Amino acid sequence: MAIKKRKAYELEIIDIAFGGKGLAKPEGLPVFIDRCIPGDVVFAKIIKKKKSWAEGKLIKIIKASPLRNQGKCLYCNFCGGCKWQQIGYDRQLEYKKRHVTESIEHIGGLKNIQVNDVIASDPIFEYRNKMEFSCSAKRWLMPSELENEAVKKDFGIGLHVPGTFDKVIDIKQCEIMPNLGNKILDDVRSFIKQSDLPAYHLRTHEGFWRFLMLRHSVSFDTWMVNIVTRYKQMDVVSDLAALLTKKYPQIASIMNNITDAKSGVSIGKEEVCLKGEDHIKEKLGKFSFKISANSFFQTNTRSCEKLYAKVSEYAALTGKEVVMDLYSGTGTIPIWLSDQAKMVMGIEIVKSAVIDAKENARLNDIENCDFFEGDIKDVLPRLRQKPDVMIIDPPRIGMHKDVVQQVLLMGPEKIVYVSCNPATLARDLEMLCPTYETREITPVDMFPHTYHIESVALLVKR
Ligand SMILES: C[S@@+](CC[C@H](N)C(=O)[O-])C[C@H]1O[C@@H](n2cnc3c(N)ncnc32)[C@H](O)[C@@H]1O
Repeated sequence: MAIKKRKAYELEIIDIAFGGKGLAKPEGLPVFIDRCIPGDVVFAKIIKKKKSWAEGKLIKIIKASPLRNQGKCLYCNFCGGCKWQQIGYDRQLEYKKRHVTESIEHIGGLKNIQVNDVIASDPIFEYRNKMEFSCSAKRWLMPSELENEAVKKDFGIGLHVPGTFDKVIDIKQCEIMPNLGNKILDDVRSFIKQSDLPAYHLRTHEGFWRFLMLRHSVSFDTWMVNIVTRYKQMDVVSDLAALLTKKYPQIASIMNNITDAKSGVSIGKEEVCLKGEDHIKEKLGKFSFKISANSFFQTNTRSCEKLYAKVSEYAALTGKEVVMDLYSGTGTIPIWLSDQAKMVMGIEIVKSAVIDAKENARLNDIENCDFFEGDIKDVLPRLRQKPDVMIIDPPRIGMHKDVVQQVLLMGPEKIVYVSCNPATLARDLEMLCPTYETREITPVDMFPHTYHIESVALLVKR
């Protein structure tokens, strides 16, 4: 049977591949199919065909794998949020560890690197401290709603079905966000439906309501509600803010970000504080942080503490070292390490993140952290002080190759590399390999029920 594009086949899923897709191998040709797990027998349509691989779209599960669970969430077969809910958590961790190990070996070409067991997330539901729901003038219908004419299709607030950019699932219950968030989401939905203002239309770029972003502080059990609208309409959003604060004393901040940008970003060109403060407070270990609506903050607070504890363990600071943290975001790692080092320098490209980092250092009475704003490849050559230890926590694309060269020139004795993408981690470790030996890697799970995995690697100068 030669596999052909646009044809559908019965296929047996034999493994999980990079990116979390199921892998079938009819006649030796790797076929990747989303939302499938090993042991499933499925009917799938080939949507992409290359010389050495193909991609299939799941049409029907003919025989479900014995590894398949029901999945806690109503929408888990459709929503792009957590596609691995049907896989037991222990097995998810096994797959994630293997994903890291195989990336290091196959992409980085590094053999016999010790990859430890994944540090699990606890809890595995209600773990996300930030969710962003899109408003849409078009609602995606669940199969059970398709025949029901009473179901209105003109408004939805929730998450996208992958591949349908202008339609959202009207999410009533998201299992990875603390439950109070679902109640707030529902009240916002009712308010929007009764308002005279339409939801933003992702094709025509008209309409008013764009996003609802919810942030939760685990330590203080408080919430930030950020309403993103296309234009300013204070009377309407103020009414919504009044309704929410009256009902939920846990809401510490209500913000309105206003943007008419056509791209799907929720950061406002203008930001108004409608109620409470313009930030919420969170704690990581003994340190406090102010988080504003548009700041970056790791989305799984408890796993973040485990991640940073591993960074501390690998850095093994004695109090005498100069530490440099590349890609320092809002300064959480420098602040975390501040009482273990002589001084910590952070470099970050986003201006507001650098402002937050400085403010967070002040909030914790920390005087030995310095933050530099700019692109690392421009800032690094200007810094004269050579670090003893370097922490590197780049975005998914990993390090720019010029930055790798600059790191090699600076030559710190030790590097702790934090990565949210095993593929670019592997690539960068390979580039650093002539000078740095990778001693071990510990994956840390920040994102249960997704294939995403964070890793911390310890590199020591040869
Ligand atoms: C994965 S986040 C790390 C944040 C921080 N370490 C933490 O744990 O919260 C990566 C950060 O790198 C920043 N960034 C991306 N490219 C950059 C560049 N070329 N130069 C400096 N910072 C950059 C992003 O703005 C982001 O804050």
